[in-house]
Parts: sequence; C-alpha cells; structure tokens
Amino acid sequence: MKSLSNENKAIENMFSQISPNYDKLNHLLSLGIDHLWRKRLIDKIPGDAGRILDLATGTADVALEISKSFNSLIVGADISLSMLKMAKRKDKDDNIQFINAQAEYLPFADNVFDAVTISFGLRNIPERKKALREMKRVLKNDGVLLILEFSHIKNILWRSIFEFYFLKILPYIGNKISKHHFAYYYLPQTVMKFPAPEGLSDILRDVGFSNVCYDRILGGVAAIHSARS
Ligand SMILES: C[S@@+](CC[C@H](N)C(=O)[O-])C[C@H]1O[C@@H](n2cnc3c(N)ncnc32)[C@H](O)[C@@H]1O
Repeated sequence: MKSLSNENKAIENMFSQISPNYDKLNHLLSLGIDHLWRKRLIDKIPGDAGRILDLATGTADVALEISKSFNSLIVGADISLSMLKMAKRKDKDDNIQFINAQAEYLPFADNVFDAVTISFGLRNIPERKKALREMKRVLKNDGVLLILEFSHIKNILWRSIFEFYFLKILPYIGNKISKHHFAYYYLPQTVMKFPAPEGLSDILRDVGFSNVCYDRILGGVAAIHSARS
C-alpha cells in the first residue's frame, strides 16, 4: 500500500484501535438498525453486477451481506489491517477478497467494477474528491456508486433530540466501551462537517458522476446516494 499521509495514519490508527469492539458498538449505539440501513444500500446494487467493490469495508458487514445475495466477485478494501483481520474472521466461507488499500489510491485497473459501495467510510476520507475520482476510475462505464453515510436532519425538533443522543450519550458510551479516548467524539464531529445530501450530490456531479440521486433515512439521520460513472 502507498505510504500514508499523517492524517490517514491517524485515522488508520484510530480504526485499528477500536476494531475489536467496532461491531459490538455499532449495533449497540444504533440499536441494531445499522443492519437495516446496510441492507437498503445493498438492495440498490444491480442484480447482474459481476464485480463489486466494498470500499472502507471495515469488518465487512456490507461485503458479507452482499455475498448472501450475489454470486459475484466481491472485493473488500480498507486502510486498516486490523479491521480487515476482524473481517476475514467473519468471512468463514472465503467469499470475499480483502485488500489493504487507501480509497485515494486504489490498486485496481480502470473500468473493472460494476458497482462500488462505501458505507460510513467517505466521511473519514480527508481527500474526498480524490477518492471519488478513484471510485469513478475503477467503475465500468455506467457502473453504479452507492454511498451510505450519516447526513443532516431537517426537522428542528428531531434534530435536537438526535443531537443530544449523538453529541452527549453516544460519545460517552462509545469511548467507555472502546477504551479509546476520542474515537466516539470524532464520529459526531465528522458528521457535522460532512456535506448535506444536496452538497454531496454536487460534489459527485463535479467529479463526473451522472444520474445522482439520494434517499434520506430516518428523516436525514443518514442518506444513501447513488450515481452512475
Ligand atoms: C466507520 S468504518 C465503516 C466500516 C464499514 N463500511 C461499515 O459500514 O461498518 C470506516 C472505515 O473506513 C476505513 N477508512 C478510513 N479511511 C480510509 C481510506 N482513506 N481508505 C480506505 N479505508 C478507509 C476505516 O479503516 C474503517 O474501517
């Protein structure tokens, strides 16, 4: 893998440290609904997709779910070896090919994948446009990019209730269980800085994607963007 920038080193280090507790905390802090969101993402993959890349795959919840419905070549790529080790342990039937790679420098030829998924990963990538260009490059012509990410809640009352949970309760529980002093403070910070769905759609068009559209989930807690290369 290409050597990491200082920013990516810090991100890789943080995810590696929380990797042993990542799944447990995900399901606890989302009250189990993260699983349903990932399913909604996967439902948007075209049924005939022969090669699928799950980027920032982490512990491979998305890649493993894809492998249940697709008899395709599935590649899971992530910057953190520790996350990939957890993923590999879960992939008992060896359905997924795991690769330690940075989204900004994908080690694949042009035009190879029919679909690229990235779930709760794009927010963590400092050079976002560079990574999106890479996703476009490795996608076949008219291939589909699917992004699941935290988003912006429009309703003020719902937003204040959610923010109380997200800014006060989640970091407290997350940091305590993961024994990491800031990973779960970092999470809401990155969400606050992440563009709203309209902004992310503009970035995708800027990078050259077409047919950009999105669905809000739970009033904007998260959103799924889809786009064609
Ligand atoms: C919040 S986790 C999401 C994992 C998984 N996709 C999921 O839905 O649970 C974010 C993942 O992005 C990875 N990541 C962060 N920056 C990355 C980069 N520049 N390139 C590839 N992976 C990256 C982290 O190592 C981590 O596994």
